[in-house]
Amino acid sequence: MSLNNITLDIEYVKAQFPAFTDPLSSKWTFMENAGGSYVPHNVINHLNNFMTSTKVQPYADFDMSKIAGQNMDKATKLFADMINAQKDEIIVSGSTTMNMYVLSNAIKHILKPGDEVIVTNQDHEANIGSWRRLASLGVTIKEWKLNPKNAELEIDDLKKLLSNKTKIVSVTHCSNIVGSINNLKLIAKIVHEFGAYIVGDGVSYAPHGFPNVKDLDVDFYAFSLYKTYGPHLGLLYGKKEILDNLTNQNHEFLEGDVPYTLNPGGPNHEELASLVGIYEYFDNLYKHHFSERKVSTREKINQINEIISNHEEKIANPLLEFINSHKNIKLIGKNKIENRNRAPTIAFTFNNKSSKTVAQELVNQGIATRNDNFYAWRCLKALGIDTEDGVIRTSLVHYNSQDDVTKLINALKNI
Ligand SMILES: Cc1ncc(COP(=O)(O)O)c(C=O)c1O
Repeated sequence: MSLNNITLDIEYVKAQFPAFTDPLSSKWTFMENAGGSYVPHNVINHLNNFMTSTKVQPYADFDMSKIAGQNMDKATKLFADMINAQKDEIIVSGSTTMNMYVLSNAIKHILKPGDEVIVTNQDHEANIGSWRRLASLGVTIKEWKLNPKNAELEIDDLKKLLSNKTKIVSVTHCSNIVGSINNLKLIAKIVHEFGAYIVGDGVSYAPHGFPNVKDLDVDFYAFSLYKTYGPHLGLLYGKKEILDNLTNQNHEFLEGDVPYTLNPGGPNHEELASLVGIYEYFDNLYKHHFSERKVSTREKINQINEIISNHEEKIANPLLEFINSHKNIKLIGKNKIENRNRAPTIAFTFNNKSSKTVAQELVNQGIATRNDNFYAWRCLKALGIDTEDGVIRTSLVHYNSQDDVTKLINALKNI
């Protein structure tokens, strides 16, 4: 059967997430996924098992400790396979903000006064603020500005900023407000022509399909595991040869123990081990939809990504069409998803009501969403939106259904 004929079995998907049968959360139509997703039972089971039988310091020689360490290592290896990296290229810590902060400190020794770092104003502040702080070293920070007419980052504008002084370019793979998917592979190629490093923020991208970091050829890439169906952790990928040359952010005597040296305090053990459950969930999704068994983990992810994208496109396009056609609503970003050019992270404002009022009215109708600047305050400022009131953001993932979207459209009509 060709992949085009395989559609995501939404009933199967929903059955994997206990939140859909939980007495509290099942009452809600959940559309704040870009803030943090639900978790499948596999993750909860691993967390529970770790806390029940192996909640001891890992890597000692007694059984509980050995198994704890093995599960933590297994999680790292599986995630490396899923994003096409090596296990020693993965750092798991508390959040993406923390990973970016640590990375900017670990890499700053390569910079000298007069060097240039490029950041955008479309990104979440996590991938801007830490880089901007490097100005204290005498480094010039340049801003790749979005086009205020369409909220997009134009590659021609980046080309004008690049020079042989550029050392780092940090850019989002997908904005948590605009939703557009930036052509990170092409951006990486252009940045590398100038001998600079490229740092990708995949936080808003990864929930819609785990990236292939080698194919993107990014030097660093970060995403938040609590938005990809896991616990509150962040994952940072870095090319091994570059990680080897970063400065140690952990204890002095751990020098050389890469990538552990890129994590000042070590990961949360039980949460790290529970990531095995994310792999299992995707593996089960694959087995449920496809019959071919002899495929690599990455190939399974490719195939799942495709059916997830098709599903998201199908459910999000009617919503985009409704919002875009309504005279009182201003949609931010592209008005249609085609060929994975946009994530179903849909932000908008009303002409005649505050975002706070609209979000509250949606909540009153059982739609779990919110208004905010979502820490992309430079993006909102560039678009002329009040950063206090912010935008209303409705963010879908693959476990959302057509029914959810119909409910949202009806609720918006009522408002
Ligand atoms: C695009 C984007 N980047 C970075 C972050 C920061 O992630 P974390 O909460 O893991 O620090 C977020 C969080 O919402 C985000 O949406």
